[in-house]
Amino acid sequence: MKTVTKVLLSTVLVSGLFAQSDVYLTNNSRVPDLKMPDNKLPFKGIEGYQNYKIVATHFRTDKNEIRYVLANPVAYNALTQHEKIMPEGSKIVKIGWSVKKMPTWPGALEADKIQRVEYMLKDSKKFNHNGDHWGYARFVKTKDGYKPWAKGAQGCISCHASVKNDDYLFTHFQKTF
Ligand code: HEC
Repeated sequence: MKTVTKVLLSTVLVSGLFAQSDVYLTNNSRVPDLKMPDNKLPFKGIEGYQNYKIVATHFRTDKNEIRYVLANPVAYNALTQHEKIMPEGSKIVKIGWSVKKMPTWPGALEADKIQRVEYMLKDSKKFNHNGDHWGYARFVKTKDGYKPWAKGAQGCISCHASVKNDDYLFTHFQKTF
């Protein structure tokens, strides 16, 4: 191989590697290199989520957590069109934040720290649990940093099965008008 080609090739490879490891959760916290124990979906699979659109917000009173649900463009279009079945490649990310009193208005709560990051990816070639074609991934914040959900995806599948008729999604597009 000519040296020029070699140099070009390694530049492409190296910049590719950097792009791969440069996934940020927020402006200054890098996404760790973790994978789900069973289906191997990576934490880095949330890459680009900052550009997704918020489709719903939920507040879990038992966990005192605010959750933002964001959809990639393909899922966003399907959700806003109220499609029954989400198209292949749909990705829905859920970020759970603890809350704290707003310093400027203590009667109000605001998002404080990320507690969990989860996503569902529609890929019917890879996933089929009795017709549920989603891959599930959850990474939770512990005192030693993020950890993949030890029980794996099976737990997700059984609970999301309760909304089987809505393509296993609890979320409906939250009207913005
Ligand atoms: C005991 C029931 C239960 C289990 C187990 C569960 N979920 Fe959910 N999930 C919910 C509910 C309820 C919502 C909607 C409320 C919210 O946002 O918290 C939801 C919402 C979601 C959403 C946003 C899309 C949607 O369906 O509304 C994602 C993504 C998600 N869950 C991923 C996961 C993953 C990944 C796992 C497994 C690691 C999991 N869930 C396990 C009940 C569950």
